Amino acid sequence: MQHFLSINQTTTDELQHLLNVAIELRRQRRTGDPHRTILAHKTLVMIFEKPSLRTRVSFEQAMIELGGHAMMLRSNEVGLGSRESADDVARVLSGMVHGIMARTFEHEKLEELAAAGTIPVINALSDRSHPCQALADLITMIDEFGRDITGRTIAFIGDGNNVARSLAMACGKLGLKFVLACPRGYEFDDDFLARLSASVPDADCRTTYDPADAVREADAIYTDTWVSMGQEDQTASRRADFADYQINDALLAAAPAHAIVLHCLPAYRNLEITDEVIDGTQSRIFPQAHNRLHAQKGLLAVLLAGL
Ligand code: CP
Ligand code: NVA
Repeated sequence: MQHFLSINQTTTDELQHLLNVAIELRRQRRTGDPHRTILAHKTLVMIFEKPSLRTRVSFEQAMIELGGHAMMLRSNEVGLGSRESADDVARVLSGMVHGIMARTFEHEKLEELAAAGTIPVINALSDRSHPCQALADLITMIDEFGRDITGRTIAFIGDGNNVARSLAMACGKLGLKFVLACPRGYEFDDDFLARLSASVPDADCRTTYDPADAVREADAIYTDTWVSMGQEDQTASRRADFADYQINDALLAAAPAHAIVLHCLPAYRNLEITDEVIDGTQSRIFPQAHNRLHAQKGLLAVLLAGL
């Protein structure tokens, strides 16, 4: 595996391997095995065009725990595509460090970095996808339902956005069912649906406009912000359009009692999800956030050390 740009470009075997390594490293961490030499003397450059808490901290902490080093560069320091082309940035960094992770608006910048450089490039969220989040989501599903999560159903209530796309693709590749409940106009785009059916022709992925219908057979109910980074000028219209798509106690009542609740965070409390649900007994949202660390460790160990 050379890069981690999308779930689509990751095979099912690679995905399984990433999850296995992540879960094994977590087991070692919990039993006090320090595994601090896996990335000794390796440096990861992290470029952020958007804010971050989980992604930034989990990658930096992952590098520390694996014995390496992470270097954070803000977009105004790098000027990816403005001060300097992504192509030139990748060629320079390839001679100095061992990996690049980047959070961008345009997904194409990540593809440019990967094409021009000779070191692994990781997608830390783009407008198109958020594959690192999907890894942590799958680990959280495994934690709840056991190693074989085939046939489980995730109902995503909200925008057919970057987080939803990566999760739907991951569900397809691992044999989970995915239901998106969204208002009209916020469905998956045709390009994504074409990639999904090319990659996983028998993917069980459907869209409904009725949240109660989506959760009826759900094992997990997922949501994300209604307003992604970069869409702030649409806040008023999006809040109005998504008003009936909140995860609240009434929606949970329409789902099986065993269903868990997930959210990639940050959450806009009492908009896409209520306080009662985030802090309720069915929520696995904070363990899910913690799994970002373990997912990142697995990913870095595989990409930078060939584990
Ligand atoms: N879920 C997630 O990616 O969070 P951050 O934006 O804080 O990194
Ligand atoms: N869809 C959100 C995810 C944040 C982690 C965004 O892109 O802002």
